[in-house]
Amino acid sequence: MIILDQENKLITLHTKNTTYQMKVWDYNVLLHSYYGPRISGGDLSYLLRCKDRGFSPNPNEAGSDRTFSLDTFPQEYSTCGVGDFRLPSIALELPNGSRTADLRYVDSEVRRGKYALEGLPSFHGTEEEWDTLSVTLTDAAAQVEVELLYGVLEKYDLITRAVRIINRGNGMVRLCRCASLCLDFVRSDLDMITFNGAHVMERCPSRTHLHPGIQSVDSTRGASSHQHNPFVILCDRNTDEDHGLCYGAMLLYSGNFQAAAELDQFENSRLVMGISPRQFSWTLEPGKCFTAPEAALICSPAGFGQMSRQFHRSIRHNLIHDPWKGRRKPVLINHWEATEMYFTADKLVDIAKEAPHLGIELFVMDDGWFGARNSDNAGLGDWTVNEEKLPGGLEALVPRIKKLGMEFGIWIEPEMVNEDSDLYRAHPDWALSVPGRKPSRGREQLVLDFSRRDVRDHVYEQIKAVLSSADISYLKWDMNRSLTEVWSAALPADRQGEVYHRYVLGVYEFAERLRRDFPDMLIEGCCGGGGRFDGGMLYYTPQIWCSDNSDAVDRLRIQYGTSFCYPVSTMGAHVSAVPNGTTGRITPMETRGVVAMHGTFGYEMDLSKCTRSEKEIARRQTAFFKEHYDLIQDGDYYRLSDPFQNGPYTAWEHVSHDKKEALVSLVTGSFRGAPPFLTLRVKGLSPELNYQINGEGSWPGDVLMQVGCPLPILQGDYQSLQFYLKAE
Ligand code: DGJ
Repeated sequence: MIILDQENKLITLHTKNTTYQMKVWDYNVLLHSYYGPRISGGDLSYLLRCKDRGFSPNPNEAGSDRTFSLDTFPQEYSTCGVGDFRLPSIALELPNGSRTADLRYVDSEVRRGKYALEGLPSFHGTEEEWDTLSVTLTDAAAQVEVELLYGVLEKYDLITRAVRIINRGNGMVRLCRCASLCLDFVRSDLDMITFNGAHVMERCPSRTHLHPGIQSVDSTRGASSHQHNPFVILCDRNTDEDHGLCYGAMLLYSGNFQAAAELDQFENSRLVMGISPRQFSWTLEPGKCFTAPEAALICSPAGFGQMSRQFHRSIRHNLIHDPWKGRRKPVLINHWEATEMYFTADKLVDIAKEAPHLGIELFVMDDGWFGARNSDNAGLGDWTVNEEKLPGGLEALVPRIKKLGMEFGIWIEPEMVNEDSDLYRAHPDWALSVPGRKPSRGREQLVLDFSRRDVRDHVYEQIKAVLSSADISYLKWDMNRSLTEVWSAALPADRQGEVYHRYVLGVYEFAERLRRDFPDMLIEGCCGGGGRFDGGMLYYTPQIWCSDNSDAVDRLRIQYGTSFCYPVSTMGAHVSAVPNGTTGRITPMETRGVVAMHGTFGYEMDLSKCTRSEKEIARRQTAFFKEHYDLIQDGDYYRLSDPFQNGPYTAWEHVSHDKKEALVSLVTGSFRGAPPFLTLRVKGLSPELNYQINGEGSWPGDVLMQVGCPLPILQGDYQSLQFYLKAE
């Protein structure tokens, strides 16, 4: 619900459990007065206090009132160079060279339904589910208009934000920064949690107290990155899984981003999130509009668990698109870790032929099937079947796989090119590179200039022909290096600051075309594992390969960190062979299955080399996963322990919406002598119901939650357990 109170110049957004408020203050400055647990109503601008503070300037209109300063108030969308010295949301460069931006409120409008953003991903849904608020601000001197957009998805406590900047003047305006979100707090005692890592170790949470000055995470790699995720949390110092106030902020963007928090001189805090201003500028011609990507906020008064569950519901129901929203996804087998790119058609069939007997439904042919792709220094860019490896092409291979009773899927890396490729030989200028510099290589490949329509068209037509040539129901879209030497031959010198963002828009446009032409195809995102695991890609690709590290023990941490924002149903996770290729670790097959069920579930191994007992375990795993599919993929998710604490086990739980079913999964750490007797307290059950555990003895829900289930002593390292709880 959105309430416009014209008389008190107050705008209030209510979700089921939270309230967000802003106030049009003196001289039409738009201030932020509140965001937190839901309140019944009222004007919270009593929290906006005035005081004459040294070195905090006053706008000209304030005359001799020295208590009014932009530097001291919480702002709704912070300005630049006109008296607020904290993090700006916007930065302009005008034709006269000035670099100030001063925004004043003009009007606002409320409507049913959700706004959409041109060429950018955003949450969506029905007219009944959403309300939209549009607030217009203007910089009169610059003749620049700013539209702040807010979407309210009441039932999931989700508030989305986006921004449009329009040049209403006659001259060119250069935009040097345009945040999607600015969130001010009149308090300093907050922690910031960010999700950081590296290739093969993504999204590990890191929590620090906000301290004076600016603390930030960002990416300038052209993708959202393995190193930092465009999702951050601000929270009370004592917030934990089940208690305390927290604010999650996610950016639906797959390129360079920045999330920065500042603790100022008067102990106020500010979070600004959006496209990274590093390497960014955008020239706005008269009448033109720039749209900043969407950000989404959830405030939870009851800890991180509730915040995550609200993000999960919103993403599953209002970000993932039809037909994959709610549709059952296949259990797959991918041969990459078994063969890499060294395979023949017979080898693929050999791996595939065991799969249907184990309940596997889809075979994915990974990297290596095209061009002269016999090693990773050649072939990218040439999207025609390598007939030396696959005689007769897909027309011959796909029916062989389908005859086994499985669907067929294929891997692509459309944004990339090897110098050793026909594409590069014909169009060397299509790769990103700076004139006069030799481009850096990453995995011996270069990046195509996806900001250019002609480049995308060429790649798209080749890939479309492949996808149309056979019955292909799944596509894995990979991206295996960061962008460097970013310069486009298609843009003039003064527009080179636009290339990174135009590249991301190009990726989205390419994804949109795939969705339009192949509406039933399941697309799995991938960027050397989880280097582009963000809300932007999830709009187009309903699942993303979570990490190139498929080791079950490391995956406990990676999937735990990922779960703070993203649901289990989006996390690509497979059972792979041991010793693990990344860590060398040996874990039991049962444990690998339990961990892969914390995701989309599939296999990544040479099934033809599996023992009879491994196959039997796999058969039971897929049957169990399918039996509990809805509970795992659509149930409410609870983290029961933190794998970074090195405790005796890592546990998590899925609970059905009616609380009549739950699945508890647990993996132990390394075994130690004289082990203690442990109990595991579960969450989310109904205290009034009795639950059978694995079809045996039954226990009241409140006992299971408050006292806990006794755990058996599991000898050996990295053992696992699953309890299925069913209400009687
Ligand atoms: C990186 C991906 O994450 C892997 O799963 C695999 O597809 C390789 N690329 C192929 O080059």
